[in-house]
Amino acid sequence: MKRGFVVLFLTLIAAMLILSPLAGGSLSVAMQTTSTATVATTATTAPTLAPTLDSSALYLDATAPIEDRIADLLARMTIDEKIGQMVQVEKGSISPDDIRDLALGSLLSGGGGAPSGVNSAENWAKMVDGYQKYALETRLAIPLIYGVDAVHGHSNVYGATIFPHNIGLGATRDADLLERIGRATAEEMIATGIYWNFAPCVAVVQDVRWGRSYESYSENPAIVSELATAYIKGLQTDHLGAADTVIATAKHFVGDGGTAFDSSTTYNGATRYSLDQGVTEVDEATLRAIHLLPYEAAIKQGALSIMASFSSWDGLKMHAQKYLLTDVLKGELGFTGFVVSDWGGIDQISKDYYTAVVTSINAGVDMNMVPQKYPQFIKVMQQAVEKGDISVERIDDAVTRILRAKFKMGLFEHPFSDPEMLQTVGSAEHRALAREAVAKSQVLLKNEGDVLPLSADTPLIFIAGEGADNIGIQSGGWTISWQGSAGNITVGTTIREGIEQAVGANSKVIYDRLGRFRSTDETADVGIVVVSELPYAEGVGDSKTLELSTANVSLVNRVRERVKKLIVIVVSGRPLIINDQVELADAVVAAWLPGTEGAGVADVLFGKLPFTGKLSVTWMRSVDQLPVGSGTGDALFPFGFGLTTTAK
Ligand code: GLC
Repeated sequence: MKRGFVVLFLTLIAAMLILSPLAGGSLSVAMQTTSTATVATTATTAPTLAPTLDSSALYLDATAPIEDRIADLLARMTIDEKIGQMVQVEKGSISPDDIRDLALGSLLSGGGGAPSGVNSAENWAKMVDGYQKYALETRLAIPLIYGVDAVHGHSNVYGATIFPHNIGLGATRDADLLERIGRATAEEMIATGIYWNFAPCVAVVQDVRWGRSYESYSENPAIVSELATAYIKGLQTDHLGAADTVIATAKHFVGDGGTAFDSSTTYNGATRYSLDQGVTEVDEATLRAIHLLPYEAAIKQGALSIMASFSSWDGLKMHAQKYLLTDVLKGELGFTGFVVSDWGGIDQISKDYYTAVVTSINAGVDMNMVPQKYPQFIKVMQQAVEKGDISVERIDDAVTRILRAKFKMGLFEHPFSDPEMLQTVGSAEHRALAREAVAKSQVLLKNEGDVLPLSADTPLIFIAGEGADNIGIQSGGWTISWQGSAGNITVGTTIREGIEQAVGANSKVIYDRLGRFRSTDETADVGIVVVSELPYAEGVGDSKTLELSTANVSLVNRVRERVKKLIVIVVSGRPLIINDQVELADAVVAAWLPGTEGAGVADVLFGKLPFTGKLSVTWMRSVDQLPVGSGTGDALFPFGFGLTTTAK
């Protein structure tokens, strides 16, 4: 039996046997383990709607006012059907019949949550549509809302266009570009039947030792607000509900990017995270000015969901923060969409699962990303309502918000994938857009003697570094799998391939991963060394030193000796300590995590396009200068820095 089935089988047995409250671990990690269980995937045929369905019901009338549709449907729902809407299950843990029998409201693919078998857009569509059919067989035929982290393109799907991660997009300062990326991402999602993106992350990163720094557009809340707004508009458009639109999620509410170094109590196996899921040790004025600002912008743009943060503020886990989740977010800011928990985030509130659930739902979480043990979440919810620990009014408020999103996004009218959109997945048009984004995100930090742009006729060019020729490294985390991985993991163009395509017939390019170049004893006119980080996601990427690996340091030193002009390109999710390398190099480029279209780097290296990128985060000289604004002395390169060149 495949591992996936074993996991699913055991999960189901465990779920059925554990009726008492789970001793939720306060130190458990949000481990994105998705099994490979399969669902009975059939073609997208019309569902066999429940015979009891009243097709004349107001809530099924797409022309009726949404608030009337909500009221009509809510009045028809049993308490168990209402609770079902508040449940989001990870697809590897679901028994498909339960979608129908428990009237579940949502599923998700966690990082890497691809269908079993071939990871293709077509198979994603079959999987998601297959689950949707079960939902539409329920008594009221309320469609599932399926969520995914399409955080830099539909990045779990093999062959999808992978855009630069947010820290690079922040360097473009180009809102129009972000809107176009949101639009392209929505198209590729809809090809797979997924209409809910757990993006944009609107974290305002303050300490780039954080493993999620690359998910943040900037340390500056105004830049985060502007670019997130544009991206949300790209996803939702101004005609949300049409079949080409999806809903956005502003995350992680609130203060995820401001946690203190070494404040986390979350473990990933034996390793304790440092900043991720830690404590945001700022006063309320600072929290509002830096971390809350982007949510005001996201709400104004009409974001329909917001994800609670694993982090804590003022002594409370955000998933338990009623003041912020309800009084501020829903009251003061007037958010009318729904709040979804993060992956098992509710469990971290208390070792007593009943207490954790009651606290979090009453604090304002509307949907629980359980994500595995959903039978006991449902059991606890039923108990809490029966005992009055969670009021029916609170349940109705949560379900109203969830239904509002489902009606506004047109899910009742178009619950299935759109096969017409399959042609957009990894399309030449989307890849050209991603390549434009890569070029605009490159930040030129040093350009001694205007060595850049290079001539396409440079006689001999050496290229070195593992990250120079590795799609997985240049894409980073949240790519095909949760953590991402080095290797030829999906379709794309490496930086090396981009350079080889850019040079003329008279130019010779030699690539040597380790920079030894034993095939010749010549000195190259130009050496291009890519130093890089291996992919990571979330707290796994928390760093104490931000130092380059010794292999990267040695590589630069080695190639320096073999070339006349040295260009160092940094492929990373954040600024790293590169003081010595800047001294050694003639030119230095921050490439961030460019995604599948590495040719965009060559576009600016060879002057097809100008360098225009500006740092959206401070490039520190030392970790003593973190978080931003602390420590002494000047940064290596200040926020907003970036040299320019002119296109040839
Ligand atoms: C993760 C992340 C969150 C993501 C969710 C679903 O743990 O914190 O950003 O959307 O789980 O994958």
